[in-house]
Amino acid sequence: MDLSKEQILESLGRVPGPDGRPLPQTGTLSEIVVSDGKVFFSMTVDAAAVKAWEPVRKRAEEAVRAMPGVQSVLIALTAERAGGAAAKPAAPSARAGGHPAPQAAQAPPGVKAIIAVASGKGGVGKSTTAVNLALGLRDLGLKVGVLDADIYGPSIPKLLSIRERPQSLGGTRLKPISRYGLTVMSIGFLIEEETPMIWRGPMVMSALTQMLREVEWGELDVMVVDMPPGTGDAQLTMAQQVPLKGAVIVSTPQDLALIDARRGVAMFRRVNVPILGIVENMSYFVCPKCGERHDIFSHGGAQLEAERMKVPFLGEVPLHMTIREKSDAGLPVVATEPDGPHAKIYRDIAAKIRDQLGESDSGHAAPKIVIEA
Ligand SMILES: Nc1ncnc2c1ncn2[C@@H]1O[C@H](COP(=O)(O)OP(=O)(O)O)[C@@H](O)[C@H]1O
Ligand SMILES: [Mg+2]
Repeated sequence: MDLSKEQILESLGRVPGPDGRPLPQTGTLSEIVVSDGKVFFSMTVDAAAVKAWEPVRKRAEEAVRAMPGVQSVLIALTAERAGGAAAKPAAPSARAGGHPAPQAAQAPPGVKAIIAVASGKGGVGKSTTAVNLALGLRDLGLKVGVLDADIYGPSIPKLLSIRERPQSLGGTRLKPISRYGLTVMSIGFLIEEETPMIWRGPMVMSALTQMLREVEWGELDVMVVDMPPGTGDAQLTMAQQVPLKGAVIVSTPQDLALIDARRGVAMFRRVNVPILGIVENMSYFVCPKCGERHDIFSHGGAQLEAERMKVPFLGEVPLHMTIREKSDAGLPVVATEPDGPHAKIYRDIAAKIRDQLGESDSGHAAPKIVIEA
């Protein structure tokens, strides 16, 4: 049987905070998550006082670790903006499918719309699509941000060849990275790669809140979020944490991937996020030698599925060596081959999305911008 939160709080009561008050009375503790002898919670403290809190965090970990039945413990110290004005990170929620957070998540000031790029499973080209889509939206004249929320494999730093860390502004807020005209922030900057998977789930909630609230996003027409793959509890909780205007589902054409895509659509519908549409990635293969097109994955599945589910079909992206090589080299095709055929495909998809955002914003479609082929 797992320890109760009360038992843990009792032992934390013997750990004094920097001012001598027992830790549970300092108002810094998040919800305590206990699962199979593993204990997780976070302490949110004033950014200016982090140094004073670090030894407290250590002592708290030692106190909990010494309790019978505890196998491991992880306490994350998160900094709050000086003056305590920033909202607390959301309580880590081990259980999803519950009710949306009582205080609905808010978009950062100046950010007009947030859209999610999601997929039923990893490896379908979600991040590649997110990046090129963001660049496509940029080409339509929008100011675009990219938020990498993929806890399982944050890949935006690689796809956009970002090696630097975001700088902190006055020690309390983070300055996002600019690349290819995009404003970029990645969960990879906040969660260490070595963090065991089991902790990533709860940690991601506070990391997400931080990325939304403590990053100087500036004025953005649209923020594109690279979501973690899958349709489980973690994804559902995240979808509830971020105030999404809509979701784009990426799928490959195979039946199995489409089943996952269907789950993705169902998940967003459950939390009342409109589906902006489905993108079929690795849709067909154009032989670089003979130029002939091969439908190696039985192309067209996603379009049929989109019709079946009554959601827009946004377009097909071929499986192409150039997309792969450019992506993996941090030189996304839309930015580096803007006149090529792939860039046009992504821009066309971006235009379909932009039109829908315009509609939901003002009640009528945004003026059409003609894209040259
Ligand atoms: N249309 C495409 N053509 C060729 N390679 C692609 C295409 N889309 C994605 N890839 C490659 O497939 C791999 C997985 O893509 P990625 O975007 O990282 O997927 P996910 O984010 O879904 O895990 C990467 O090596 C990427 O370069
Ligand atoms: Mg990815």
